[in-house]
Amino acid sequence: MKKTIIKSGTLITASDTFSADILIIDEKIAMIGKDLPEGDAEIINAQGKLVMPGGVDPHTHFDLPMFDTVTADDHYTGHKAAAFGGTTTALDFVPQESNSLRYSTDLWRQKANVKATIDFGFHMNISHYDDEVADEIPSLLEMGITSLKVFTAYNDRLRLQDGDIFKVLRIARANGFLTLLHAENGDVIEVLVNEALAAGNTTPIYHALTRPAWGAVDATLRAATLAAQAEAPIYIVHMNTAGEVDQLKYMREQGVPVMGETCTPYLFFTEDHLRRPDGAKWVCSPPMRTERDNRRLWEGLSGGIIQSLGTDHCSFFFNGSQPIEYEGKLVAIPGKELGADDFSKIPNGLPGVGDRLPIMWTYGVRAGRITPNQFVALTSTNPAKIFGLYPRKGTLTPGSDADIVIWDPDVKIKYGVSKAKHRTDYNLYENWELVGFPEKVFLRGHLIVDGEKWMGNAGMGKFLHRNPNAPLI
Ligand code: URP
Ligand code: ZN
Ligand code: ZN
Repeated sequence: MKKTIIKSGTLITASDTFSADILIIDEKIAMIGKDLPEGDAEIINAQGKLVMPGGVDPHTHFDLPMFDTVTADDHYTGHKAAAFGGTTTALDFVPQESNSLRYSTDLWRQKANVKATIDFGFHMNISHYDDEVADEIPSLLEMGITSLKVFTAYNDRLRLQDGDIFKVLRIARANGFLTLLHAENGDVIEVLVNEALAAGNTTPIYHALTRPAWGAVDATLRAATLAAQAEAPIYIVHMNTAGEVDQLKYMREQGVPVMGETCTPYLFFTEDHLRRPDGAKWVCSPPMRTERDNRRLWEGLSGGIIQSLGTDHCSFFFNGSQPIEYEGKLVAIPGKELGADDFSKIPNGLPGVGDRLPIMWTYGVRAGRITPNQFVALTSTNPAKIFGLYPRKGTLTPGSDADIVIWDPDVKIKYGVSKAKHRTDYNLYENWELVGFPEKVFLRGHLIVDGEKWMGNAGMGKFLHRNPNAPLI
């Protein structure tokens, strides 16, 4: 039996801030209190430090094939970067293969199991719907999967029509799943992309201009009304526009079971970033918007309209023909340069799984936009609750997994690609000044990050069987 005491830290949970010791026995938090008897425990002094539950990232894409390449981070490199940024659980999306949902899930499990360094779970994309799929969805519960993602964009690839989304919502309701929605208008996008390319408009800004914000507003409202009619909960992923926040607020006020997530980049960047010569670095779907949208998303987070903050981590190299060094080896993976002559061929997605907590601490908490308790709620506790992991994850409580971050609130850091541990050649927050950063990170009681030292290893992350019928918050 291994005992560790994290001593004299200031504990921050979603609801409280207090000073206490934490006794960890093996992989669990055993006791929390003042001046716990030390006995034969290893003592870790956290005086002057903050102690928080490990982050839960509800939205990542590791090892995802896209546009003739694959994401730069896999389940090892992505998890490692997450851990250095204080995140100890990540929920990834399983692409639906043509075979069966079980086949698709098994494939994703095989890729992840051997590489995982933090705990992980899966959402299932439902991008093709028929009677066979309908019959198979309930069996996902046995596989530990309790959430389904549907899309109103990516025509002929991932999109479902409203009738099928409604059917998925009804199956979800009957079996205790939560449905996640990618909200954009696929038909409008198809027309505008074709027009832009025909007119020779090929630069990255056209990625944003061909995906108007109204499409997200319309899709959010439409899906929420479908959820209301199916009496099923729905969770809007990667919200990027003010209008979505307004729709979310309205629908929640009507008692519709809808929740929302935004992702860190949408709080800070705008379409103007896509106008830069290196604008491809900001290409993701849905795209960056305006400063007004940034502000409204912050209001959504601080005002309790939006419940969850993820990353939609889906990293690519900016220049995948130029290798970088990763763990002593040179690596180059084709990336954003694939769309140098055509914005519609730029692989969609951004790095961010390791950035979320450090960026949100300095530019959210220290900037006075959210409280430390909201920080924990949005980045850990709420995602754990929404996705059926609470109280195993997302809190500091006896019986919970000892996923713990000891946070140095005073350390000053110039952030960027060399500090972030993603396996890619750029970082969106290059040269940003940070105050506060994770110092030690524990996964189920195992110290996996100690300052700059990586102590995790591939395969130690466990697949999380999640509980259905998670609460609406
Ligand atoms: O551009 C992005 N976000 N790629 C990932 C796929 C998605 O829709 O979340
Ligand atoms: Zn999406
Ligand atoms: Zn995504």
